[in-house]
Amino acid sequence: MQQDKILVIGALGQLGSELADALREAFGEDNVIISDIRRPIDLEPHVRFEALNVLDSKRLAALVDEYKITQIYHLAAVLSATGEQDPLFAWQINTDGTLNVLEVAREKNIHKVYFPSSIAVFGADTPRQNTPQNTIMNPSTVYGISKQTCERWCEYYFRKFGLDVRSLRYPGIISHKAPPGGGTTDYAVEIFYKAVATKSYKCFLQEDTYLPMIYMPDAIKATLQLMEAPAQNISVRSSYNLGAISFSPVELTQEIQKHLPDFKVKYVPDFRQQIANSWPQSIDDSVAKKDWAWTPDFDLALMTEDMLFNLQKKVEKIVL
Ligand code: SER
Repeated sequence: MQQDKILVIGALGQLGSELADALREAFGEDNVIISDIRRPIDLEPHVRFEALNVLDSKRLAALVDEYKITQIYHLAAVLSATGEQDPLFAWQINTDGTLNVLEVAREKNIHKVYFPSSIAVFGADTPRQNTPQNTIMNPSTVYGISKQTCERWCEYYFRKFGLDVRSLRYPGIISHKAPPGGGTTDYAVEIFYKAVATKSYKCFLQEDTYLPMIYMPDAIKATLQLMEAPAQNISVRSSYNLGAISFSPVELTQEIQKHLPDFKVKYVPDFRQQIANSWPQSIDDSVAKKDWAWTPDFDLALMTEDMLFNLQKKVEKIVL
């Protein structure tokens, strides 16, 4: 069997930096090429990096040829909060970028493509509790509109051209390695850094704003599980709902306070509150459970413990 060669696009972001590690582990260091529009500050010798702007489809095609790429993980995107600052730019990166990937994948007979979607594809008309796989969507952010559009394109490329493209609608991802890049769920990462560093945090969402979230190890596990599943099990070719944990800022604060009792949070909502209000509070991911046996490992308590442990280690490293 041909050895898979993987190209990760947008590999220096929050998800990419950890997913690339997991892919190197699974497929071997030489078989994973990472790319991003920015260059890494310090590149470890075992990492194979190529600069790539996803809008440059010629360069994308050339990299696919050069490395004989068989799988593409396309993670480059402008997220919900940043996208609202420059909607046309966000639209261009998110939709033109994805179409470039799908088109190059079709032309070059790529075996599998991964496309991350988001809970942002849902909007204020969507049922917010246990949001079903198929329901009213009507997203309101340019990020959500572009992700929904690309979900439709993914399904189109599968039906029309047989391209094996797979996708997850991620909840907010919580992690301690690379910072998130301008989303509405970012508070749930920032709060941990501030808890460890300064013992206080100004939260940009109201205390009772429930949102679906997932801890990075579960996000990676779900991605690899989906990509490894037999093609005949994949019944959703737009994007799968993915659930893990749901909590509000005050619940997360209380969980952190179990470890750091002096930690204080002030709630000062900004424009991101309106975005959060239009998103689901919890997700029905029964189709993912049925099709490829999805189950998360981390609940709120386990995730909090692990985040604090790892961030404290990071702080000690800086101080020492
Ligand atoms: N984390 C993303 C955001 O907040 C949602 O997918 O934009």
